[in-house]
Amino acid sequence: MADLQIEVNGMQFPNPFLLASGPPGTNGKVIRRSFSLGWGGVVCKTLSLENEKVINTVPRYAKLHSRISHEVLGFENIELISDRPFEIWLEELEECKQEYPNHILIASIMEEYSRDRWEEIVERTQRTGIDGFELNFSCPHGLPERKMGAAMGQDPAIVEEVTGWVKKASRVPVWAKMTPNITHPADTAKAAMEGGADGISAINTLLSITGVDLNTLRPLPTVEGYSEPGGYSGQAVRPIALRHVMEIARACARVSVSGMGGVETAEDAAQFFLLGASTVQVCTGAMLQGYEMIEGLCEGLDSFMERHGFAKVSDVVGRSLPYFTTHADLVERQRIAKTERAGSTNRDHLWDGDIKKQSDSLVDGGEGRP
Ligand SMILES: Cc1cc2nc3c(=O)[nH]c(=O)nc-3n(C[C@H](O)[C@H](O)[C@H](O)COP(=O)(O)O)c2cc1C
Repeated sequence: MADLQIEVNGMQFPNPFLLASGPPGTNGKVIRRSFSLGWGGVVCKTLSLENEKVINTVPRYAKLHSRISHEVLGFENIELISDRPFEIWLEELEECKQEYPNHILIASIMEEYSRDRWEEIVERTQRTGIDGFELNFSCPHGLPERKMGAAMGQDPAIVEEVTGWVKKASRVPVWAKMTPNITHPADTAKAAMEGGADGISAINTLLSITGVDLNTLRPLPTVEGYSEPGGYSGQAVRPIALRHVMEIARACARVSVSGMGGVETAEDAAQFFLLGASTVQVCTGAMLQGYEMIEGLCEGLDSFMERHGFAKVSDVVGRSLPYFTTHADLVERQRIAKTERAGSTNRDHLWDGDIKKQSDSLVDGGEGRP
């Protein structure tokens, strides 16, 4: 059995799988249940000081289904951060830590652009005994109207400044959760690192419109006939999330990365580890499959590691990062490889059909992979 434990920023995770901030960690009861089922950590639904300013709508989800299997490929939400009272959250976080001291509880927090407010939320929340903070710089809908969430996370100067405020007030590790709704993910991640973040979480949801109802002609999800662009998650976003994690891991080698976006299986998660994530978070996958999916994630990661001879998770982290290069370098590598193949072909007297087969398998990603 491979060792699934991992230490990240001084936090000892029993395994590298966390429930991401969202419905799966929406109150103390479900957080405790997740720990009892074996999740290594939970990032709770994002808290703020004044829940009365947070007003959700119904409906607030829309799904993109496969045309063939009806499986959910993409998931859009216009849900806000937690609308539950901050004081209740403080009690529940404390209870969770008392009952499950060996599982990692990370408090996701968000506040307005005010040093006092960020210091207050940090100081009051950390008294509960939580293990770390995740700063929500990334909720893409609703909150940006109040200059919060992605409105902060899209501005590197604000990311650095707010991270700095939190780091000064915090006695526990701080992760900054980044928005994918930007052009260059490394810029804002580096700003968080300069502000003192111990880790970067990526990605939050992508701004999206799932579709328009062709009977009513109203966009989805439809609230009293109207809609707004929402945050897209689930397996459809995984390729984008992998690219963000890769670029952040390469640009921010000093800090840890917690990867997420479309993880539903251990094989999905393994790719995030290979591209530099030390922990992997799951939100939509757990909403669709249930909390019990943690068993399959651990078993699948274990067999992946055994198959490749990895003894511990940290051996997997970043393993595929060296195999990214520039387009010009790819062209040069292919030129050299073709020349070498032509040389060996001449020696072996292969006919043209064999050369064609070799280059087809390269196109398919077969031979020639690093
Ligand atoms: C319904 C819903 C609510 C969410 N709420 C939050 C939140 O309160 N705070 C936060 O940081 N991220 C929130 N997220 C984003 C997730 O934590 C995660 O970053 C994103 O969904 C990508 O991961 P996934 O594909 O596994 O869901 C939410 C996602 C969903 C689907």
